[in-house]
Amino acid sequence: MTFSWNSIKRPIVALAPMAGVTDSAFRRIIKKLAPETLLYTEFVSTNAMAHGSTKTRAMLEFDSTLERPVIVQVFGADPSILVEACKEIEALGVDGIDINMGCPAAKIVSSCYGSALIQKPELAQELVRSVVRAVKIPVSVKTRLGWDTDETLIPFVSGLVDAGASAIAIHGRTYKEKFTGKARWEPIYALKNALPNVPILGNGDIQSGADALAKLGNLDGILIGRGCMGNPWIFQEVIDALCAPTPDGEGSTMKPRSLREKIPIILEHLHLCCQLKGERTGVLEMRKNWSGYVQGFAGAKELRVRLMGMEREKEIVDLLTGISQKD
Ligand SMILES: Cc1cc2nc3c(=O)[nH]c(=O)nc-3n(C[C@H](O)[C@H](O)[C@H](O)COP(=O)(O)O)c2cc1C
Repeated sequence: MTFSWNSIKRPIVALAPMAGVTDSAFRRIIKKLAPETLLYTEFVSTNAMAHGSTKTRAMLEFDSTLERPVIVQVFGADPSILVEACKEIEALGVDGIDINMGCPAAKIVSSCYGSALIQKPELAQELVRSVVRAVKIPVSVKTRLGWDTDETLIPFVSGLVDAGASAIAIHGRTYKEKFTGKARWEPIYALKNALPNVPILGNGDIQSGADALAKLGNLDGILIGRGCMGNPWIFQEVIDALCAPTPDGEGSTMKPRSLREKIPIILEHLHLCCQLKGERTGVLEMRKNWSGYVQGFAGAKELRVRLMGMEREKEIVDLLTGISQKD
């Protein structure tokens, strides 16, 4: 079935795009635990695609039955390069394309990608318009509250919507704020009031079902980023909280899982990483997940140190299986 933002069940609960994190292995784990989750990929460089990068093309691989709906996030600032890349991405059978207009990293902004586009609203609109004309799947944008103020949010996003953007996700911080302080959701609610017919998703600092329920407000959905690293179980918790809040109006907060309860999913995640990227890269890439998966119990630090030193999938499997079998 063709994906459209308006046909998807509300409230939308989505995996935020995260470079180096939201790869195919992690997306499959999330879908296994929370099938209703909407997936964004890591961002993909359209210039790297134009230069024939095999690494970038490998990032576009996805399981077309398990990972749906999947929105591929791209970055770039040259309309013709962006268009060619998006046509190629559409041909892979993905559900949507999202243009990154929020990344604050220096090397991204200095090339006029990501957040830099907030300061170039005409170019930002041209990018959206060009891609919308070139592909049939929906084109969305993820951006921030603004460059150094949220006062530009409504005019900036209105321009993107006029250019054809089908949905907008907002991280509740400005470029200048980077990741500091708390995400501010009030300007995102005001944006939804100004553009009631456009799906608007909020993003920033959701760590539990209760957080999601407290922050959803008038929005069409939310994106979860850092809160799912080492905790892919958060998606079903949030879906449950938003769809069936407890009688006191608060989302139920799940009891923390023991390591032993987590081990089967951790091992599946490890196995998928190794299967999709090769054992060496898979084991190395799993290292960024150990601090999230292995925490909150006596001896967690020592276990993390051991896991960080391991290079073979079997070593890790033996260690964790041994722990799960202890009485
Ligand atoms: C490691 C990491 C990588 C990220 N990569 C991307 C990215 O590729 N594209 C994007 O739009 N945002 C990216 N972000 C921002 C997140 O999508 C999200 O907007 C931000 O982390 C705030 O949400 P959170 O508080 O739920 O983490 C990244 C964030 C982190 C921590």
